[in-house]
Amino acid sequence: MKHKSSIASGLVLSVALLGLSGAAFGDDDERGFFNRMWGGSKAPGVAPVKDPFYLEECGGCHFPYQPGLLPARSWTRLMADLEHHFGENAELPAEDADRLTDFLLKNAADQANYKRSKKIMRSLRPGDTPLAVSETPYFIKKHDELSRRMVQDNPQVGSISRCEVCHAKAETGSFSESEILIPGFGAWEDD
Ligand code: HEC
Ligand code: HEC
Repeated sequence: MKHKSSIASGLVLSVALLGLSGAAFGDDDERGFFNRMWGGSKAPGVAPVKDPFYLEECGGCHFPYQPGLLPARSWTRLMADLEHHFGENAELPAEDADRLTDFLLKNAADQANYKRSKKIMRSLRPGDTPLAVSETPYFIKKHDELSRRMVQDNPQVGSISRCEVCHAKAETGSFSESEILIPGFGAWEDD
């Protein structure tokens, strides 16, 4: 009798979980939450950005790189010199810069429970403080099969920093292989 009722309650539990995971899978944030509930199995990709202020201030010139793509120490270094930002002056009033730094540090790769954030962190040595995602060893290794023709000399790409051009769902924090489409070359097929 005891045995039977535990099977029954197990069934109720798994049906409830199925519903929960079904609802959760539409959204990376929710998925992160769901996974955290289960003791730390990681969500794929990086956490998506929803903060409108960040999207506006750091998404005007280029793709709004998710905080989970670099460690906190990199963001601190980058935000400390916006006047000399990759050859541009991206200086902001101190108050705005502080607010953005706060957001970046709270969501940095070393704070995140997302698979790509963990992999980026693992590729860095403790002292490494890269200013660009594209300078991290993990990123370099993942993109080493791309040719100049596909990136720098490709009029539709131009720079490897334009994540959103090849990664169709970059804005959602997803960089999955099946979503890659290189303009002029088509879908990415790995072997
Ligand atoms: C005035 C324009 C401008 C603004 C505003 C701006 N950036 Fe940039 N950013 C650039 C340029 C130009 C590059 C170099 C892109 C390239 O090499 O293709 C760059 C590159 C970067 C990179 C490195 C990309 C890579 O290759 O990994 C990061 C990270 C970055 N910016 C973060 C930020 C953050 C955070 C903010 C908001 C505080 C910001 N940017 C605001 C112009 C800007
Ligand atoms: C010119 C096209 C292109 C651009 C631009 C680009 N990527 Fe990629 N990305 C690729 C390709 C191709 C792969 C390799 C997939 C494979 O074979 O593993 C890849 C792989 C990745 C992966 C690993 C995915 C996985 O499932 O293994 C991540 C994460 C990633 N890119 C992030 C970025 C970010 C962040 C940017 C911008 C700073 C960026 N990429 C810019 C084409 C691009």
